[in-house]
Amino acid sequence: MRKLSESEIRARLPRHLQALRIDIFDRLQSTNDAASEAIIDGRAPEFVVVLAEEQSGGRGRRGRVWSSPPKQGLLVSFAFSYPHGTPVRVEEWPLFAALTVRQMIEETSGVPAKIKWPNDILVDGRKICGILTELGTGTYQRYLVIGIGINVNTAIEDFPPEVCERADSLAHMTGREHDRNELAARLIERMHATYLDVLRGLNFAALRSEWLSHCSSIGQRARIAQGFQTLEGFVETIDERGSLLLVDEQGKRHTLISGEIIQTYTGGAWID
Ligand code: BTN
Repeated sequence: MRKLSESEIRARLPRHLQALRIDIFDRLQSTNDAASEAIIDGRAPEFVVVLAEEQSGGRGRRGRVWSSPPKQGLLVSFAFSYPHGTPVRVEEWPLFAALTVRQMIEETSGVPAKIKWPNDILVDGRKICGILTELGTGTYQRYLVIGIGINVNTAIEDFPPEVCERADSLAHMTGREHDRNELAARLIERMHATYLDVLRGLNFAALRSEWLSHCSSIGQRARIAQGFQTLEGFVETIDERGSLLLVDEQGKRHTLISGEIIQTYTGGAWID
């Protein structure tokens, strides 16, 4: 199993990205924490990348644990300055990241990946990637951290029992091992391009039709967690701002700016 290597990743990056800060750790608590530490005292606009072979405290959305056996997944966080007044809302970032990762996965591995609102990446209904976006306040500026965990070469038996029914990996899907340095380089290149696009004014409305074409949630009966509340209904669409429109059993429409689809009604049963 090949290790992550800065030189191998850099060799696959275009010239304009050679100056990017890329930190790679064998083991740390969470790449989101390390990325946050790398940027928290910065004054100038910056973009940093942190990767790790293993996390002792990898975390997911809504207090979940993200577990990935050493040297099998891609555990990466991107942190960048996010000044007050940035036109794009924080809630749009998970949607941009999902679209970017989805495309990278499909292009590099050939698997037809789908997005479950707001930012899980699924293949055949099983999760292969999760994304955790966190907003921080630094000494001089606000910043955003986007942490991405992709199950790359993970064997099914190495997933924790509570997720093995609904998780999968690229290697299991395709029957071959994948080069994590190549995937890391392609992801860094794409995420940086998305970051620049957003700085230049790209918003979700411009990507909405592409996003919808890859979204598995439209038309589904779903349960959605929003804070401590769970709402149930049919997913009508995702609007121009990235909010999910849910029509409940009484026909009332809810516009959910944040939250997460936690279950869908599929094949006569509620599944996670
Ligand atoms: C989720 O599906 O709930 C989000 C999972 C996000 C996991 C990644 S792994 C890299 C980064 N570091 C973390 O601690 N979490 C994110």
